[in-house]
Amino acid sequence: MKTVNGFPDHFLWGGAIAANQAEGAFNEDGKGLSTADMVPYFEKKDYVNLRELMHVTSASIERAMAHDSAEGYPKRYGIDFYHRYKEDIALFAELGFKAFRLSINWARIFPNGDDAQPNERGLQFYDNVFDELRKYGIEPLVTLSHYEMPMTLVENYGGWANRKVIDFYVKYAETVMTRYQDKVKYWLTFNEINTTVIEPFTGGGVVEDRVGNIRQASYQALHHQFVASSLATRLGREINPEFRIGCMLARMIHYPATSRPEDVHQALVDNQLNLLHTDVQVRGEYPAFIGRYFKENGIELATEPGDEQILRENTVDFISFSYYTSLVSTTEPEKYGVTGGNLFSTVKNPNLERTEWGWQLDPIGLRTVLKEMYDRYRVPLFIVENGLGAKDTPEADGTINDDYRIDYFRKHLTQVKEAIMDGVEVMGYTSWGAIDIISASTSEMSKRYGVIYVDQDDHGKGTLNRFRKKSFYWYQKLIRSNGEDME
Ligand code: BG6
Repeated sequence: MKTVNGFPDHFLWGGAIAANQAEGAFNEDGKGLSTADMVPYFEKKDYVNLRELMHVTSASIERAMAHDSAEGYPKRYGIDFYHRYKEDIALFAELGFKAFRLSINWARIFPNGDDAQPNERGLQFYDNVFDELRKYGIEPLVTLSHYEMPMTLVENYGGWANRKVIDFYVKYAETVMTRYQDKVKYWLTFNEINTTVIEPFTGGGVVEDRVGNIRQASYQALHHQFVASSLATRLGREINPEFRIGCMLARMIHYPATSRPEDVHQALVDNQLNLLHTDVQVRGEYPAFIGRYFKENGIELATEPGDEQILRENTVDFISFSYYTSLVSTTEPEKYGVTGGNLFSTVKNPNLERTEWGWQLDPIGLRTVLKEMYDRYRVPLFIVENGLGAKDTPEADGTINDDYRIDYFRKHLTQVKEAIMDGVEVMGYTSWGAIDIISASTSEMSKRYGVIYVDQDDHGKGTLNRFRKKSFYWYQKLIRSNGEDME
């Protein structure tokens, strides 16, 4: 029997960002508007009803479309990664990154989604970014769609609820996979694909007030994304057999609130609904329970005859996932208080501490998730998001002493190491928001995840200068020791 003592050689240490939260330059060099450009800033006062607060409607889209500046829409200006990528990548190199996860903004390549030709200036930008990463020997890990799509596909087609969008996505995937075939090896087809049924506009460009039954529309959109992901996987393998293509899940492990069989079963159901996505993308078919679930929820999927075969024959090479928190299931929610996260809410777990934004901190849950997913699927796992969103206050001398973030990383990475020693195959770890970026949910800047501080406030004011936090040096040391030095 083989035993493993720690992080393997060639472990892909790094960090992650998303185009729509970092790049800015929302209307430069031919980029079209994307769904993320429709999301205004709002001050987050309540951590529980965040989904309702950030809800994008026809009326809010109309307002956003009429607003042609970046003011009030922080994702439109991001942290100006578009112009500062060289400086940022130099810092990632200094950290010792082996990998850097980023996404391509679809609307930079196909401004309307259905254009006949791609936008050369958009393609050139990512050429430059990948070349810069390669210069330092950093492996890009590219998400094709991270919480955005061209707005024209929403306005003229109804987003992912429309089957035609599959063809546009496949064309986009083919364009970038061909163009970057010698520069990018690791691809993820969709960020947190389960978001499509949790927050359909963010995940699938589906506007709730434009569809009759939102559950029906979001599962339909999800089905189209599954098919599109499989087709892109097939294409990618034809373009370059060396590609490694993965799916991406926001793993939301649910614990039963008590040992009452009702709660235990409810947790099982909630876990099944979360793992439905990896079941389809790794096993190549919908799980058995879903037929009854669809029937009881009035969901009738429109599928085409070849779909089953496409899903079956083009499963992914690895599973990537985000992990921030664990959730709690019960059939008696009224007995417990509720806490939030970003797009979800859950009943409180009295055994866990919560961050200022309501996320329940659970490092051991990460070990559980790794072991459970590896047992279930037996494919390599990649943690592509994990991190602490917190307010940082620079000291008078400019230093940022974020010991709370170091503590977070130390506790979570200890559990990753335990899982590796338990035999789980883990490819890498890219911390979320290697550098402070705009929050996906609230569009706040003050909810910071990075080990690199960016001088900008919630209203876009600041020098945009970058500073190394205390956690920067800690992470650098950890990477240098391949995960051994956690002090
Ligand atoms: C993940 C997303 O769900 O959570 C990221 O993939 C996001 O895009 C991250 O930034 C943290 O959420 P938030 O809302 O705190 O930025």
